[in-house]
Amino acid sequence: MSRGLFLTFEGIDGAGKSTHIDALAAALRTAGRTVVLTREPGGTPLAEKLRALALNDAMDPLTEALVMFAARRDHLLQVIEPALARGDAVLCDRFTDATFAYQGGGRGFDLQVLTTLERWVQNVPDATLRQPDLTVWFDLDPAVAAQRLAGARVPDKFESQPQAFFARVAAGYAARLQADAGRFLRIDADQPREAVWRALEAGLQDKGILR
Ligand code: TYD
Repeated sequence: MSRGLFLTFEGIDGAGKSTHIDALAAALRTAGRTVVLTREPGGTPLAEKLRALALNDAMDPLTEALVMFAARRDHLLQVIEPALARGDAVLCDRFTDATFAYQGGGRGFDLQVLTTLERWVQNVPDATLRQPDLTVWFDLDPAVAAQRLAGARVPDKFESQPQAFFARVAAGYAARLQADAGRFLRIDADQPREAVWRALEAGLQDKGILR
């Protein structure tokens, strides 16, 4: 049986992570792994309901952080932990780094409180603190992301934030990488899609996750 593998994918809105997550899932399945493809907020019936609230309803920053972590707790217990225990590869579109980047960086909410919530929520059986084995950060200039998002679809609560918000979110991601560089793979997302995929593939080969 394979050892469980927990990969998360991050970046500001418009960074273009989705197609690459799907391609990576296909590559891992071809390599013989069982893959669980999931997302945050969401991934369970309850957490998807919380997602709809978090992405559409106005709320104060603490409420927003609590909703994100409540969804995460359910997702961890119902989906992520059982999958890792089976030895599956879990590919999760966003995780706790998004809370530090969006609620911490973007909203300016207290990072110490987020750290405390992280300890409570990610304290799961057989792990002192559940963290991803690797986090892929699609790093993109907020100005470029804004151009990509313009007119793409009806924006949700986060997508309709001004560029300055995303500059703070990007700085939040950079700070997370600095604090735990070994967990991150930074990908320059300001390249054609093919080049981004090649960079991702090379980075994952380097980490021994893809052959
Ligand atoms: P996103 O992952 O971009 O999905 P889609 O591509 O379907 O729009 O949407 C999730 C949004 O939620 C995104 O704007 C970031 C935000 N978010 C937070 O603010 N905090 C969090 O903890 C998470 C997981 C997401």
